[in-house]
Amino acid sequence: MAFLAYALLAFIASARAVDITITAETVHEIPETLFGYMWEDINHSGDGGLYAELIQNRAFQAVEPGTDDALAAWTALNNASISVIADPSPLSSALPNALSVSFPSNSSGPAGIANEGFWGIRIDAGSTYTGSFYAKGTLNTTTGSQAEVTLQSKATGDIYASAEIDVSSLSASGYTKYSFELKPEGGAPDTDNLFTVTFPSPAEVTFTLFSLFPPTFKSRSNGMRIDLAETLAATRPGVWRFPGGNNLEGQTVARRWKWNETIGPLEERPGRRGDWGYPNTDGLGLLEYLDWAEDIGAEPILGVYAGYSLGGETVPEDAIQAYVDEAIAEIEFVTGDASTHWGSVRAALGREEPYALRYVEIGNEDFFAPDSYQAYRWAAFANGLEAAYPGKFKYLATTYEDVTSLEPKPAYYDFHQYNNPNWFVEQAVRYDEGVTPRDGTQYFVGEYAVTSNNDGSKMAYPTVEAAVGEAAFMTGLERNADVVFAAAYAPTLNHVDDTQWYPDLVSFNAGTVSKSPSYWAQWLFSTNRGTHTLPTSPVSSNTTGAPLYWSASYNTDAAVVYLKVSNTDSASINTTITLDGFTQDGDAKVQFFSGAAQDVNTVDAPDAIVVSETAVSVVDGVLAYAFPGLSVSVVTIPAQI
Ligand code: AHR
Repeated sequence: MAFLAYALLAFIASARAVDITITAETVHEIPETLFGYMWEDINHSGDGGLYAELIQNRAFQAVEPGTDDALAAWTALNNASISVIADPSPLSSALPNALSVSFPSNSSGPAGIANEGFWGIRIDAGSTYTGSFYAKGTLNTTTGSQAEVTLQSKATGDIYASAEIDVSSLSASGYTKYSFELKPEGGAPDTDNLFTVTFPSPAEVTFTLFSLFPPTFKSRSNGMRIDLAETLAATRPGVWRFPGGNNLEGQTVARRWKWNETIGPLEERPGRRGDWGYPNTDGLGLLEYLDWAEDIGAEPILGVYAGYSLGGETVPEDAIQAYVDEAIAEIEFVTGDASTHWGSVRAALGREEPYALRYVEIGNEDFFAPDSYQAYRWAAFANGLEAAYPGKFKYLATTYEDVTSLEPKPAYYDFHQYNNPNWFVEQAVRYDEGVTPRDGTQYFVGEYAVTSNNDGSKMAYPTVEAAVGEAAFMTGLERNADVVFAAAYAPTLNHVDDTQWYPDLVSFNAGTVSKSPSYWAQWLFSTNRGTHTLPTSPVSSNTTGAPLYWSASYNTDAAVVYLKVSNTDSASINTTITLDGFTQDGDAKVQFFSGAAQDVNTVDAPDAIVVSETAVSVVDGVLAYAFPGLSVSVVTIPAQI
């Protein structure tokens, strides 16, 4: 009996052993755009996330004055009374609302206002927090003219940093801007903290446009939160598709993302209620996105509004030209030199040199409104933009060939897929199997992620099983990079205290960042980039019967072979990897992660799944390696062709 069991195990093991031969012959180039991200403000990924501003509801944008919602994140301290008003003499027409505060004479302690940040404020020792607010009103100067700002604990009132501000210039007739710095000597033990402003009482003061920034990524003003920025930058994303996603579209035409309202001084940006339910300040605007893409070396894919909004409203044909003109102007702002109207506006905002832009995506998921896309919207934009910028840009369509028959015929399509792990594993060979023509048409997998378990249940965080499925699919993208020129995981970030869509690649709160197994799969694929694909025999996993998926590539600059492997089975799989025609012997390495199917990283346990590295030897051009069950691995082998 024991012998039979042993024989059966030995048989299963040998049946599952996989021989992979990699041949020293570059097949086709792998564009640098292959792995990257789709971006929109969702889950507070922007405001309260990547955008480093710490004050939530800083200018009372896109709220109804007088409502509780309008006071989101603000509270009164001691006996102050507060309300959001429609200011009859606002700071700017873009910012019509303000916070009216009555500082009473009878308060027991300093009366004032407090902002809780985006569900907390992280306070780091030694950092400089740069802040400002606008105020107007009247003071009783007999009680002094020094206001105070602090960063303090919500629970204990312990003050981590404070600054006095001379507000003797306060006037009832117009706003004055007050600026300050807060420099905590010691850090706070948690993020349950407040930003406070107290005024000498009694006083009647109206405030707007508060701001408080910690140090930012690459020290840009109005910049990015360092830990989140470094997390995304660390994967060296090849592509950055923005500004959405649904958040480009608006729920209505009037509520679409209007590029020209996201540029210039913050005082002139009205913000809007985004598609994901909360106000967007648009402090993270078009220029900030373009700078960010440059800072991380990602190719921007700019989505332009194409006349369809998520709530179902569609711009009629006889009105579409105005929106085409809006896109033409936007592209001039991005790429025109300073002799053009919009290029000169950009130059006046501090960016003389045009941005490098090659790809323009026309709309988002227009398969939800295919009739108008086919009848006139696609043509109006594709022809209109081409007439304005002959031969300059590549236009991506957002319907599929089986849904619409577009004229002019698109050369680029954006394909989206959210599904379960099995779908992604099965579709690892979709591009080998010719679901798309090899006729020069190029595909962008512009949104993809495992979003549910195989039994249909939802997952709050990407699991190991999800990441392994995505990685299997990504091996197919890399192998077929001659037709799939780019791919973008979505959504990228979620604030765990206000999430609209899950799972997401990276979860965070005010103080902590959690990189999911899916993040680590992106990191493994994106930081180990080949310049060319290499042929393998077998070509791909499905021909072996073993649940192992791979792609091989070569980096001609670094002279290394990469073999990316997803083992979708729960047991390990032995392989013999033969290098055919390479000059190689010596050390190689494997970077990998593995775990149980439902293992996740969370903000409370961010490092349950991490990447490990192990050295392996290549002898006579052969490497033997067992890929652990449910794992994603990259084997890196220095080798000459
Ligand atoms: O990524 C979340 C949403 O999914 C995007 O906004 C939309 O394009 C897709 O339907």
